[in-house]
Amino acid sequence: MSDASAPLPRIPLAGVIGSPIAHSRSPRLHGHWLRRYGLPGHYVPLDVPADKLLDVVRLMPSMGFVGANVTVPYKEKVMEVVDQVTDRATLIGAVNTLIFRSDGRIHGDNTDGYGFLANIRQEVPDWSAADGPAVVLGAGGAARAVIASLLDAGVPEIVLTNRTRLRAETLREAFGHRVRVVDWLQAGNAFDGAATVVNTTSLGMVGKPELRVPLDGLRAGTLVTDLVYAPLETRLLRVAAAQGCRTVDGLGMLLHQAVPGFERWFGRRPDVDAATREAVLA
Ligand code: ATR
Repeated sequence: MSDASAPLPRIPLAGVIGSPIAHSRSPRLHGHWLRRYGLPGHYVPLDVPADKLLDVVRLMPSMGFVGANVTVPYKEKVMEVVDQVTDRATLIGAVNTLIFRSDGRIHGDNTDGYGFLANIRQEVPDWSAADGPAVVLGAGGAARAVIASLLDAGVPEIVLTNRTRLRAETLREAFGHRVRVVDWLQAGNAFDGAATVVNTTSLGMVGKPELRVPLDGLRAGTLVTDLVYAPLETRLLRVAAAQGCRTVDGLGMLLHQAVPGFERWFGRRPDVDAATREAVLA
């Protein structure tokens, strides 16, 4: 007979906070890992209105949550409720991973830049940051994370270009002398001599216009990566591959950025491989 007074085993809960959230692939990804490794735990989508965000986050530990991912539009606002922020999250100015510690403190990290680099290193093992300059297209939140990780990895120079030049200038001020801004209309000229090219804009995504920057300057061997993952093959990646570039799509970054959170919450470092990609795309 079971002992009715014995405490129920605590099943760790985690989730992703955003609004809207129905499109998020994170529940599928974490659910796949939990099943794959036979771990107890649940990962749920949480659609939270802006005026409730901070209260909801403060309440989550008492509801059994061990942590959460944070996505659009709350990655910056959630910093208001965090007790401790990693240096990389401070530099990026946004938090995408929360850890609710047993001492009651809320720890905030940003794993987007980590995910970006981990994906490249897995897909193109002989790529090195020291190979040469990187061209970054776009100057939004994703660009911040990518630039921070590339500089940290040792890229000698970043050529940054954005439709709204002022946003690129602001990023240059935040990151310093290794970032050079060129005009969006001149973006195509920056490709010759680049070792790495990254599209961080939403151009090429389903429902958005294609990236129309001239691509004939791309050189064979250059690593071209697109953060867009729907579709997996954008015009940028298609043209780059045809010109002999090495290409990496955006899905892997999404998968790798989730690894540190999953490991902290559920106690096992998960693999990112073909089965993971299939589970998320299914
Ligand atoms: P995220 O946080 O995902 O980077 P964001 O902050 O909205 O999202 O940034 C989106 C990026 O895509 C920006 O660099 C944006 O350029 P602007 O700063 O000029 O807005 C870029 N982008 C979006 N639509 C674009 C378009 N039609 N042409 C060129 N760039 C575009």
